[in-house]
Amino acid sequence: MMARRALVAIAVLAAAAALLVAAEAQQAPAQQGHQTERISGSAGDVLDDDPVGRLKVFIYDLPGKYNKKLLKKDPRCLNHMFAAEIFMHRFLLSSAVRTTNPEEADWFYTPVYPTCDLTPSGLPLPFKSPRMMRSAIELIATKWPYWNRSEGADHFFVTPHDFGACFHYQEEKAIGRGILPLLQRATLVQTFGQKNHVCLKEGSITIPPFAPPQKMQNHLIPGETPRSIFVYFRGLFYDTGNDPEGGYYARGARASVWENFKNNPLFDISTDHPPTYYEDMQRSVFCLCPLGWAPWSPRLVEAVVFGCIPVIIADDIVLPFADAIPWEEIGVFVPEEDVPRLDSILTSIPTEDILRKQRLLANPSMKQAMLFPQPAQAGDAFHQILNGLARKLPHGENVFLKPGQARLNWTAGPVGDLKPW
Ligand SMILES: *[C@@H]1O[C@H](CO)[C@@H](O)[C@H](O)[C@H]1NC(C)=O
Ligand SMILES: *[C@@H]1O[C@H](CO)[C@@H](O)[C@H](O)[C@H]1NC(C)=O
Repeated sequence: MMARRALVAIAVLAAAAALLVAAEAQQAPAQQGHQTERISGSAGDVLDDDPVGRLKVFIYDLPGKYNKKLLKKDPRCLNHMFAAEIFMHRFLLSSAVRTTNPEEADWFYTPVYPTCDLTPSGLPLPFKSPRMMRSAIELIATKWPYWNRSEGADHFFVTPHDFGACFHYQEEKAIGRGILPLLQRATLVQTFGQKNHVCLKEGSITIPPFAPPQKMQNHLIPGETPRSIFVYFRGLFYDTGNDPEGGYYARGARASVWENFKNNPLFDISTDHPPTYYEDMQRSVFCLCPLGWAPWSPRLVEAVVFGCIPVIIADDIVLPFADAIPWEEIGVFVPEEDVPRLDSILTSIPTEDILRKQRLLANPSMKQAMLFPQPAQAGDAFHQILNGLARKLPHGENVFLKPGQARLNWTAGPVGDLKPW
């Protein structure tokens, strides 16, 4: 039994490696910066959109206690997976879409860093975010006339924590809180995306988590390196600290990956995080991207950047820039309940499908759309966010309120949230 499995594994690996060499050879010109082929049937046209000239954004000037001072107190905020809230601010300050005249703005942006509050071990916690947000909104609504005329419907906020503006890392608690009452008309730019979920409002823009572009660049290996690992994953299978009984964390899907495949030679999976993590992804055909506490993780970005086919195990996930990126064609979607059959699902994908996915992943515009580079570059995640905002223009009639039509409740929510910041 074991011997047969190993033989199958070797055959699959050899096939995969051979394919990979072929696929990478075809990509070589693109990596050297030449014109890339337009992938027919993909959303390449949308990715190529240039938002400049299609929208104007006004940035509120807020006291440093909402942004810069938080960062100064803890510069680690620049490196975690929610750092898009900081980089988006920096990007907008020097962006061509910025206007300093609020009268001509299509969108208003409030630069708040709600997740820049880290535990000693570096985990961003959102417990103070509601207070900070509410206080910032009170400030802009008092100082400028623009909030009240729409109650935020022409304002956007970057709320990248696990469950967005529900501001809790545990799903049940996040659902219990719901989206912060004052943000219920605003457009939320967030990493969280799941269909029919109280923490994903219609019209929100789902973005990739922040993964450090320079660090990834530094770990690139030659494109012709064969992909000799069939399935790769590094990360937690259980979170005994926060979920001692098991079953909540990743809704049991990660535990099931471990229990079913820990001894399967096709699966290179472990909790150890090796220094060669990024290189290993470039040597792998499939990279597992199972849900954790939230449906998404930075693995999704890493898989795309490193050309490893993402195997998405997170039912009903809404992926970043889903209107622009052909996720169905790039990745493999496996329902959480099918995890026990993961080996047969992946080994039965036809070779030509694998090659096609790898070719799509090799398109530099796919990678670019997943990254927040410094300085910004055409087609990157910043520009995709602007494209998303531009596609929501012109504002519909229901955006601006008639006098006396105010709907938001300024005193709703837990008392702790109402304290001044
Ligand atoms: C906007 O509405 C709030 C709540 O009703 C009020 O306190 C505030 O003064 C208003 N802002 C302006 C600029 O009129
Ligand atoms: C606003 O919320 C508070 C606190 O939940 C509630 O007591 C009050 O009745 C609400 N006001 C309106 C007008 O719904």
